[in-house]
Amino acid sequence: MLVLGIESSCDETAAAVVKDGAELLSNVIASQIHVHSKYGGIVPEIASRKHMEAIVPVILQALDDAGVKLDDIDGIAVTRGPGLVGSLLVGLSMAKALAFARGIPFVGVNHLEGHVAAIFLTDRPPVFPFIALVVSGGHTNVYLVRDFQDFTILGQTRDDAAGEAFDKAAKLLNIGYPGGVVIDRMAKRGDTRRIAFPRAMKDSPDFSFSGVKTSLLTILKKQGRPFTEEEMPHVVASYQEAIVDVLVEKTLSAAQKADVSRVVVCGGVAANSRLREKFFDEGGQRCFDVFFPPMVLCTDNAAMIAVVGEHLLKKGQRGSLDLNAVSRWPLDKMSG
Ligand code: KG4
Ligand code: ZN
Repeated sequence: MLVLGIESSCDETAAAVVKDGAELLSNVIASQIHVHSKYGGIVPEIASRKHMEAIVPVILQALDDAGVKLDDIDGIAVTRGPGLVGSLLVGLSMAKALAFARGIPFVGVNHLEGHVAAIFLTDRPPVFPFIALVVSGGHTNVYLVRDFQDFTILGQTRDDAAGEAFDKAAKLLNIGYPGGVVIDRMAKRGDTRRIAFPRAMKDSPDFSFSGVKTSLLTILKKQGRPFTEEEMPHVVASYQEAIVDVLVEKTLSAAQKADVSRVVVCGGVAANSRLREKFFDEGGQRCFDVFFPPMVLCTDNAAMIAVVGEHLLKKGQRGSLDLNAVSRWPLDKMSG
């Protein structure tokens, strides 16, 4: 089965063709980062407009790269939520238009389930059940995953997402956007123990990242000057370490409690090199089997959406032309 995936929930316009839910034939991603970077974050109005400009060329490129025509496509999978509604509507409307015009079945896919499903595009996919940490700019959730569409939430952030904590810190430090990428790169030259940032909610399965950001702001205010070029790598390395520590520890404890040995880490922050290193180290020592998608499938893409779409279409699920976009869509309430 050939599925065309379409993703436009945030600031990436993406399309991909996936064969049989496992083989990546093409994966096209048009990023708007350069447009939003001067604002230090995503401007929703601009995002929707940029999606409209990019969506047709991105889909045509995905078909071309895969060496297929629209008539070869057996089904269309599109992100329905969660995300920015104005952005989601661009992809969703395009999927509906293509489906209607060519008589191709389509389904709406949960973006978070897509992030988890990216792991099935690897050479060594895990079997169910597994624990999944979905960690991105909007979410930090730990799930027990028994099957597609069968998610039980075990822990979640009470305030900021981990990616948001990276992005907000980079904005405070004035070092660029998106923060996670910049901090990851700069932290390689820093000492992780230079500043003892707080590790919040130690005894809870839930996360909180607003404290670590506030603590950075307090330090900046107290010293009354920006960090020097010499200090900066140590600051971001210590900051990153605090976030990574908590993500690794809480996810592995959840897995231990649930008595599940496989742990999948996905979402934009899963591209973080220190997070990958620490999960493999700690997870290995504690006899967990840790799985990460390749970098390009960690951040937003449409291939992951196509994988879920294949599964839903095979089960006979079909989207109707009045399907709406949803800004919130918790994964453990998939019937929404
Ligand atoms: O999954 P994603 O592309 O979009 C959302 O669904 O949110 O994730 C974007 C987030 C941003 O907060 C970005 O700073 C973070 O992922 N990110 C990273 C890295 N690459 C992207 N965070 C830490 N280290 C990275 N290398
Ligand atoms: Zn995402």
